[in-house]
Amino acid sequence: MNSTLPAEFLWGAATSPHQIEGNNIASDWWALENGDHPVVPERSGDGVDSYHRYPEDMALLAGAGLNAYRFGIEWARIEPERGQVSRAALAHYRRMIDTALESGLTPVLTLHHFTGPRWFAGLGGWTNMHAVGHFARFVSTVSPILGDVPWICTINEPNMVATMAGAQRAVPDAEAVRAFATGALPDPDPEAARILVEAHHIATEILKAETDAAVGWSVAQQSFVAAPGCEDQLAQANRLWEDPYLEAARDDDFIGTQAYTSRLVGPDGPIPHPEDPGNTLTGWAYRPDALGIAIRHAWQVTGGTPILVTENGIATDDDARRIAYTGAALDHLRQTIAEGIDVRGYLHWSALDNYEWGHWRPTFGLIGVDRATFARSPKPSLAWLGQVARANTLPTAEYWENQPC
Ligand code: BGC
Repeated sequence: MNSTLPAEFLWGAATSPHQIEGNNIASDWWALENGDHPVVPERSGDGVDSYHRYPEDMALLAGAGLNAYRFGIEWARIEPERGQVSRAALAHYRRMIDTALESGLTPVLTLHHFTGPRWFAGLGGWTNMHAVGHFARFVSTVSPILGDVPWICTINEPNMVATMAGAQRAVPDAEAVRAFATGALPDPDPEAARILVEAHHIATEILKAETDAAVGWSVAQQSFVAAPGCEDQLAQANRLWEDPYLEAARDDDFIGTQAYTSRLVGPDGPIPHPEDPGNTLTGWAYRPDALGIAIRHAWQVTGGTPILVTENGIATDDDARRIAYTGAALDHLRQTIAEGIDVRGYLHWSALDNYEWGHWRPTFGLIGVDRATFARSPKPSLAWLGQVARANTLPTAEYWENQPC
């Protein structure tokens, strides 16, 4: 059965500052990408110059029919040196919020999306016991420009941030970043996990006092499923990778679900994606059902915190495949709503083809970008998603299968 959604359902696309803005030179990632011995194959450089071209990006999203845009505030621009606040950067992000509102896009703001100031990383990043205080100061600094922002995500994918922190503790920065860029990740660091949860809770307190926003954070979900007889290993994998971060959101206004693919858990834990010609450009299995698995898991572990899909998408250079994947994922979303789960919106990753943490090749965007001229080329998937947004109905899978491409 088709499912008509509430009028305030968010239909949008998502980005992060470092992946699109360009020249994020005071950040820890910039330091790792540049210098005499860059540790990732490709640099972010000018990004896709969205720092300057955000009005055009937002106009394309709104013009297609979307009603929301998730973007981030870059801490390294707000506080490029410890304790030194850039008023110009604050004004820039306030202009972005105003532009979104004027374009009819509900802004969903992320305050930390993997990158931070270089000075923060120099102090040990999220493994330093003073990290909470530094982050709280940053949140207090930005909260005056966030008063009328309806949705704020404090930290993106704290479980991946804890994984990076674990890698950094075990090996030099360069090796940790290489591991992140190749997907060969160690387990999340438990101490960093504790610090991140505390930082999230303190940030939430500040934001609830200073703004009218619904506040939450977003978790990277692997949509683990058990191989036959491996239910205990499945529970263990969820315990290690997702559940502490979902449990920390029990009292939040929302939990951000981020799912791309599903992984099998065998006798020795999560199994790497087997090589397959159908895998996406990031090497992940093509699994649109991952979204439904992730939503149900988040709903169950949080005990019913409202869900906002803050990321879902596919790295492909075949836009028809992006539409097929997203249509199928939306059908799984429809089923979770039919089961009674409170889902508040769907934000596709990503608005633009962007810098995928060390690589430019995996393209997730609804909008292509010429990296020499920065010219934007909306793909058919943008018009397609905009049409779904305008209808504000989740049709069944059969409907999408019968649509002409
Ligand atoms: C991150 C994004 C990333 C996307 C695709 C998520 O883990 O939040 O920054 O580009 O997945 O890999």
